[in-house]
Amino acid sequence: MPNVFIIDHPLVQHKLTLMRRVETSTAKFRSLLTEISMLLAYEVTRDLPLKKEWIKTPLAEMEAPLLAPEKKLVIVSIMRAGQGILDGMLQLMPSARVGHIGLYREPTTLVPVEYYFKVPHDIEERDMIVVDPMIATGNSAIAAVDRLKETNPKSLKLVCLLAAPEGIKNFHQHHPDVPIYTAAVDAGLDEHGYIIPGLGDAGDRLFGTK
Ligand code: URA
Repeated sequence: MPNVFIIDHPLVQHKLTLMRRVETSTAKFRSLLTEISMLLAYEVTRDLPLKKEWIKTPLAEMEAPLLAPEKKLVIVSIMRAGQGILDGMLQLMPSARVGHIGLYREPTTLVPVEYYFKVPHDIEERDMIVVDPMIATGNSAIAAVDRLKETNPKSLKLVCLLAAPEGIKNFHQHHPDVPIYTAAVDAGLDEHGYIIPGLGDAGDRLFGTK
């Protein structure tokens, strides 16, 4: 699949299996999502540029790498389940700015409806990472990225935990330029638009609302 990056690291795969299990508690699900998100963040930021700076260790001077300061990031959470990935990523990238986009799926048509939108003002100077745990039909991610592209970020990547093949296809028909980073691509969707085998409703499992 072009422009799809599957993070098949053993730690990610192990934690994902624990998250899928129906008996996993809300507290455990939440902490696992935070941990996996840090590992996803590690992969999605692999191409961040570095600069060299002279520093002193207790024993010697050396020219050492640091993140280039002009590389500014914004992480945009597709509410509400995106919050779980956002929390983990912010632990690794505490200076990143944050945006939120609120979409809900109209239950009968599965069409996304926007109810909230707030992003930093200087998006044009920032590389954007959009986070949503589940790319199912892909409709929410398409609607979110349609809207976010209007703000002109320098670049845009989509990070999820699980994706369905239909969702990836649909998303890339609309946004072939946006890379998708995911921990796994599952078999497909059920008649309600849930990923099978999946992990259920990510928002409900994260917040304990069911
Ligand atoms: N959203 C979820 O939370 N789970 C799915 O399986 C599909 C969409």
